[in-house]
Amino acid sequence: MQFAQERYNQGGRLVIGGADAERLCEQFGTPLYVVDEDGLREQCRQFTRLMRRYFPGGRVAYACKAFCCKEMCRIVSYEGLSLDIVSRGELSTALAADVEPKQLIYHGYNKPATELLYALQSGVGRIVCDDFEELLRLDRMAQDEGKTAKVLLRITPGVEADTHRAILTGAADSKFGFSLIGAEAMRAVEIARSLPHLKLCGLHCHIGSQIPDIGPFEAAAQRMADLLAEVSKTTGVTLPELNLGGGYAIAYTGTESPPEPEDYLRAISAVLHRRCAANGLALPEVTIEPGRSVAGPFGVTLYRVGAVKQTGSGHVYVGIDGGMTDNPRYALYKAPYAAAAALRMNEEQPHTVTLAGRSCESGDTLGENLPLQTVCPGELVAVFCTGAYNFSMASAYNRLPRPAVVMVSGGTARLAVRRQTITELMQDDV
Ligand code: LLP
Repeated sequence: MQFAQERYNQGGRLVIGGADAERLCEQFGTPLYVVDEDGLREQCRQFTRLMRRYFPGGRVAYACKAFCCKEMCRIVSYEGLSLDIVSRGELSTALAADVEPKQLIYHGYNKPATELLYALQSGVGRIVCDDFEELLRLDRMAQDEGKTAKVLLRITPGVEADTHRAILTGAADSKFGFSLIGAEAMRAVEIARSLPHLKLCGLHCHIGSQIPDIGPFEAAAQRMADLLAEVSKTTGVTLPELNLGGGYAIAYTGTESPPEPEDYLRAISAVLHRRCAANGLALPEVTIEPGRSVAGPFGVTLYRVGAVKQTGSGHVYVGIDGGMTDNPRYALYKAPYAAAAALRMNEEQPHTVTLAGRSCESGDTLGENLPLQTVCPGELVAVFCTGAYNFSMASAYNRLPRPAVVMVSGGTARLAVRRQTITELMQDDV
């Protein structure tokens, strides 16, 4: 793969956020998650600008499951984004980062009662209800707390998209939300409206993740606009809010060319305008929830090469000091990545290798058939586009401590998350 020249200096050394990759590793060790903070902030601003253009009055809520730590919450909220959270852990992290509770949208399938209560008590801005039982439970809790819970209903619009099955969420038989089939969604609207301690503010849908086509987003927007119209016709009340989730695809290697965020938003906006006008409805206040497309492109993971082996059949394994424990996405979804020798970014990549992680299974790789330069033990290898669903999905398999995260801005690096120590790994053992 040919890397963009702004990624490396004249000597071919990888530069991230203005800092030299090798220097970062000397300072912070390997494996190392590195975030280009300037790029990340600019992406947040770009999403905000796009919302202003296509959905004035709308908001961007960063889906923090993509990458959540206090510093990330501080950065995105400083840049004016709200946050989509799905657990007490994410909620507590956001609160510890001084994010205003009102800026939080609490999601989740099968939310535990204790978490639901904590979210209500914390004063989160919206709770997105996923099933009938949760609506009733939340109403009782709100009554006990002397509050009114502001809710959205998660709707499953019955849209299929071209992505990995494991991250498809909008199909009719999904575990998530209320289905459009059999009028379940309308029944949920009626029940939510009848519960005195809930205020139904609007509807939500999220059709999946890493969806490289615009069509499924248009289809979902159309169905949601039509449902808003049906609600308005049946109840006489127009719900003011529509949250359309995230799911925009990003390019992981040089070979994909997914739409830009603007392409998705322009198309969704056109459909909504058309359907709302046809139904005589004002445009709702729109929220979007990008996760991957905010954080993904600005992360790079740096590894130190250990063993380089060639098997009898000619297969080359490049062994690195991390792997599926810091990035399980290839093992889980065969998700493609691009890699490079961090000090020789300007050289051709004549080899095809398996980038093998250090865990005790053959499935621990970050890619098979990956183009790579000639690399020697001790060299640095960079894997790109690891800013989303890497740190947040890391495990301690084989009791490997989680790498550190550094943010780099204007050439200066600072720790966002310390490297986990062995003592910390064992701290909960009795
Ligand atoms: N909103 C909701 C309700 C979601 O469930 C998700 C992601 C998002 C927004 C953000 O979607 P994004 O813009 O990041 O595609 N672990 C998988 C991805 C799972 C996504 C789950 N939900 C992966 O590594 O590809």
